[in-house]
Order: sequence, then C-alpha cells, then structure tokens
Amino acid sequence: FAFNEETERQFQELLKRYPIKKSLNLPCLWMAQRQEGWVSQEAMEYIAQRLEIPVTDVYEVATFYTMYNLHPVGKYHIQLCRTLSCDLRGKEEILRHIVGKIGITPGHTTADGRFSLVQVECLGSCGSGPMMQLNDDYHENLTPQRVDQILDQLP
Ligand code: FES
Repeated sequence: FAFNEETERQFQELLKRYPIKKSLNLPCLWMAQRQEGWVSQEAMEYIAQRLEIPVTDVYEVATFYTMYNLHPVGKYHIQLCRTLSCDLRGKEEILRHIVGKIGITPGHTTADGRFSLVQVECLGSCGSGPMMQLNDDYHENLTPQRVDQILDQLP
C-alpha cells in the first residue's frame, strides 16, 4: 500500500495544517479508505511509517471507530444503525427487508461485490430512525418501500 498521487497531494496539504504529525492519524485512515475502499493492515503500517508513530497507535484508532472498514466492502456499503432509537422505531423490520432483498446477513458482501451490510452503533440521526448510511449518504425514516426505492435506483 502507498498513497496514490491524489492522496499524497492531500496528505502534503494537511501536513501544513497539522504541526504535530501524529494528529493526522484519523485523516490518514480516512484517506486510505477513500483510496482503497477499506483500511488494510498494510495501509496501517504505511500510515504509521509516514506519521512516524507506532503501528499500534494507528491500529487502536482504526479499530475503535466503526466508520473504518477493516475488510473489503461492496461497491455499496450499507451501515444500518442498530442503536436504541432506531431499534424502537423499526430497525428490525428494515434489517429483515434488506437481508431478504440483497440476500446477505450483516457482516457479509454479496458474491458480485455489489453490496455489503453491517449493523453499526448510533450515527447521530436518532430522531429520524430507522436510518442507514449508504456509502457517504444518510437515509432516514426508512420503510421497506423507501429501502426499495433507494436500492433499486442505484446504478
Ligand atoms: Fe440510530 Fe442514533 S439510534 S442514529
């Protein structure tokens, strides 16, 4: 793993703004994920080298936040909130619907690599649950019909 040209450019820009290199830990993980779709062990080692910090510092941050994908994910990565508000507002029905629709259970990726599904903790949109994050976008007040609309219109 190495930053590609664009990611390297972003990294150099951030270096000017962060006087302490290790503060770039989270942004570097994010840039690695943007570039590859997930954060591999090799990416963590690379980031540790670039920031001149122990790889365990990178690993502990990467494993703390569910936003970092530690395994390859599908082209469309569905993160369904499973926390209390969304749960009370019908998360289970939405989960059953998604599972039935795309044919995988949480923690898996479809054989064609199109979809992956995980359940995550609160995404901060508790008043408009049940909700999911699809790649970078939030979708709220989900119903089975709304899920169909969202997933069926994906290119
Ligand atoms: Fe689902 Fe907060 S409980 S977004």
